[in-house]
Amino acid sequence: MNQKAAQNAMNGLTHGVYVIGVHTQEKDNLMTAAWLCQISSSPAMLAVAVSKGHLTAELIERAGCFTVSVLKKDQKEAALVCGRVSGRAADKLKLVKTDYVEGTIPVIAGSAAWLKCRVAQSVAASDHILFLAQVEDGAGGAEDLLVYRKDNFF
Ligand SMILES: Cc1cc2nc3c(=O)[nH]c(=O)nc-3n(C[C@H](O)[C@H](O)[C@H](O)COP(=O)(O)O)c2cc1C
Repeated sequence: MNQKAAQNAMNGLTHGVYVIGVHTQEKDNLMTAAWLCQISSSPAMLAVAVSKGHLTAELIERAGCFTVSVLKKDQKEAALVCGRVSGRAADKLKLVKTDYVEGTIPVIAGSAAWLKCRVAQSVAASDHILFLAQVEDGAGGAEDLLVYRKDNFF
């Protein structure tokens, strides 16, 4: 197994840049994610990989639903704010402009699109948890999308 070569080759996979929003009674949080993709069309479903250690994994397990904000080219700063600090150390909702889906679940204001997702299944995938979720609602489109490249963010 050539892990280093495999990881380099994986950099050729294209991803968008998204922010996962979660609401629980105790805490709201926002987390940047690139490892997200559509997995079904009818019903519409997506999968997102969240590191087991992240606060977001814990909050999604508790809430059972989350939002996805699809970021635009000019929202790289929001991606960095939500992707460099844990919600355990800061209230990220105070650091970026937010709107709320159904009055409670945070999304990034001015995103290209937002989706509201309900967890159908969570699958342990080594150091990440893969949340498979049905997309129940959404708005927006595919305008001026921010594209993930590892060397632009790390
Ligand atoms: C551009 C970008 C993409 C990221 N993609 C993911 C991802 O797909 N899955 C993940 O678990 N973490 C990802 N991260 C890292 C988390 O966003 C970061 O560790 C965050 O601080 C975790 O926050 P939390 O502890 O509040 O959940 C990404 C970070 C950046 C900047």
